[in-house]
Amino acid sequence: LHVAVLMGGWSSEREVSLTSGNGVADALESLGHKVTRIDMGRDVALRLAEAKPDVVFNALHGTPGEDGTVQGMMDLMGLAYTHSGLTTSVIAIDKELTKQQLVPHGIRMPEGKVVESESLYEGDPLPRPYVLKPVNEGSSVGVAIIKERDNHGSPIHREAHGPWQSFPTLLAEPFIRGRELTVAVLGDRALGVTELVPSSGFYDYEAKYTDGLTTHICPADVPQDIADAAMKMALDAHRLLGCKGTSRSDFRWDDEQGEAGLYLLEVNTQPGMTPLSLVPEQARHVGMTYADLVQAIIDEAIE
Ligand code: DAL
Ligand code: MG
Repeated sequence: LHVAVLMGGWSSEREVSLTSGNGVADALESLGHKVTRIDMGRDVALRLAEAKPDVVFNALHGTPGEDGTVQGMMDLMGLAYTHSGLTTSVIAIDKELTKQQLVPHGIRMPEGKVVESESLYEGDPLPRPYVLKPVNEGSSVGVAIIKERDNHGSPIHREAHGPWQSFPTLLAEPFIRGRELTVAVLGDRALGVTELVPSSGFYDYEAKYTDGLTTHICPADVPQDIADAAMKMALDAHRLLGCKGTSRSDFRWDDEQGEAGLYLLEVNTQPGMTPLSLVPEQARHVGMTYADLVQAIIDEAIE
C-alpha cells in the first residue's frame, strides 16, 4: 500500500506527533509499504492530492488533527484515513462535550464546570482541591491541580499553574484522590489496564515523555473487578462515541471507594504512538508488536 503519514502540524503537541508519526512511518516501511511523510502545514490538502495515497495514517495530536478539521477535509477529498471520523473527533477533543455524550449512558465522569479563564480572577470555581484543564488540549498541556493550601488569591496569578492566556476556556473538576489508570481499545477489544505512577507530582507533559519519570505497571495491580470495570467503560465509551481504529481512555480511581470510585476522565481518539506511549505498550502486552499494531489500525481504515 501507499500510506501517507500525517504528523506534526502546529498544535501544542507538535513534537509528540512528529515522534509518533516517524515511528509509525518507520514501521510501515519495515512492513514493505510505500510511505509519504507529511509534516502538516496549511498546504496539506495540496500535498495529499499530489501524493494520492491509498490510505492516510493520521498521527496528529491536538488541534488541528484530533478535532475533526482534518478529518472533514479528508472526507471531502474522498481519502481513506485511520482513527476516528469527523463527528467523533469534534466531540472527543472537547472534554465537556464528551461528558454530555457519555454520562447519560451511565459512564461515571467527574462533575465539572466550564469556566472562562478570566473568571478565575474572581476566585475558585470549585472547592479545593480541584483540577483546571483546557477543555480541548492533550498531553496534560496547561493542566494544574489546585490544592487546599495553594497560594492566596486566585490561581490565575500563579504562572507555575499554566499559561492561562492561551486557554480561554477551562474545565474545572474536583480532584479525585487515588490512582491513575488507562485502557487502550483496538477495534472491538479493550487491551488491558495500565497504572501510571509518576516519580513526583502528577502524570504531566514532562512525566509523560521523559524516560524514567513515570513507572508504567502493565497489567495494573488492581482488583479484577476494577480492571474489568475500567475495560468495560473504555469499550463502552469507544462505541458510544463511534471511535474507529484505536482510542485510549484515561481514568482516576479512588481506591478507598471501590468500583464507585472509578471515574473516566477523557477519551483520546489520537493516542500517542511514541516509544513511551501507552497503546503500543498494551498492544505488546497482548502479543502485538508495534508494527502489528500499525498494520491493524491501517486494516480497519481500509476495510
Ligand atoms: N495526547 C497524547 C498524544 C495521547 O493521548 O497519548
Ligand atoms: Mg488527552
